[in-house]
Amino acid sequence: MTVLDRIRDRIAQVQRLGLYRQLHHHSACDGVRVKWGDRWLINFSSNDYLGLAREPQLVEAAIAAARQYGTGSGASRLVTGSFDFHQQLECQIATWKRTEAALAFNSGYQANQGVLVGLTKGGDRIFVDALAHASLRDGTVLSRARSHEFRHNDLEHLEHLLNSHPSSGIRLIVTESVFSMDGDVAPLSELLQLAKTYDTVLVVDEAHSVGVFGPAGSGLCAHLGLKGDRLIQVGTCGKALASFGAYVASCEAIAELLRNRARSFIYTTALPPSVIAATRAAIAYLQAHPERLQRLHRNRQHLASRLGRVLDSQICPIVLGEPEIALAASQHLRDRGFWVQAIRPPTVPNGTARLRISLSASHSAEQLDSLCDALQPWLSAQSLPHQMIR
Ligand SMILES: Cc1ncc(COP(=O)(O)O)c(C=O)c1O
Repeated sequence: MTVLDRIRDRIAQVQRLGLYRQLHHHSACDGVRVKWGDRWLINFSSNDYLGLAREPQLVEAAIAAARQYGTGSGASRLVTGSFDFHQQLECQIATWKRTEAALAFNSGYQANQGVLVGLTKGGDRIFVDALAHASLRDGTVLSRARSHEFRHNDLEHLEHLLNSHPSSGIRLIVTESVFSMDGDVAPLSELLQLAKTYDTVLVVDEAHSVGVFGPAGSGLCAHLGLKGDRLIQVGTCGKALASFGAYVASCEAIAELLRNRARSFIYTTALPPSVIAATRAAIAYLQAHPERLQRLHRNRQHLASRLGRVLDSQICPIVLGEPEIALAASQHLRDRGFWVQAIRPPTVPNGTARLRISLSASHSAEQLDSLCDALQPWLSAQSLPHQMIR
């Protein structure tokens, strides 16, 4: 057996488990529709929650920045890649989030790694929610800290772990605000209280709550009035902000340590001018157009009432069980004109493969109704024990 045979063997293994992944190339996109082959499908899998990706203000800002500064930043931030526009974005984010400081990262994946690797070293401890995103888990593995997983949103379990694992170094509690595959929310006020009681710092990944909750879409922490030196808010700019990149909003001491120790900040080329300009325009847009958020929440309520369940957020999981059934559900909807991606392990725990419906402010009530009309009879016909239970 050659090494390539072994590689093919691993592919076959993934296929046997029903976990084979492949890229679907869309040839066009207009608002909430994507073109696949020669068919237009209504997209219920995008994280462009506010439908801003084609907003002229963002597009024009990106074009103007490319004209003025060129297409690339040319180097990492600490070499010669840091420009006024990076600093302006960081000031804008700190003002919007009401934090002392903000630091731009090249993606949410890198921001999460940067925080966990940059703030900890051997002897430190990271307490992470069991359903936290892969980037937070990978950051935990990359850091030299010992990690402890607490049951999803289980404050008692977390407190037990905090009591059982003291450290004279740094301890972090890590969670998401809106969980990416479940759409539920973390008990952030209580977590911040635990962080204060146990002299730890709370890291909240706001990837799916930025642009969706809080004043001018500034996130769930802001919505709940949470602030202070013990809170780190990580946000992505590639989802509701319809741009790219990410930020860490925190106190200045944390930003300073990250500039010095976060490898995913230090060893990478700075974000390009067009991307920074689009993000800045998106934040300005949110501040001027609260009606976008309101439209998204109206859609959330509409879908919730059609499905007869409570939705904490714009993400609606339909948990189905094994990968094959999630793929069949996705195919069923695709045949009827909807793109709803099947989500399978290891993205979600074994036995909880699902459809993940994500809403946009740009969906119409008719589009939501027609999705439900296509989905509900199919679900009833399957007589699944766990369907739609969360
Ligand atoms: C919760 C969460 N954190 C982080 C990320 C990574 O963000 P980015 O796409 O900016 O790398 C994602 C999505 O991909 C996410 O869902």
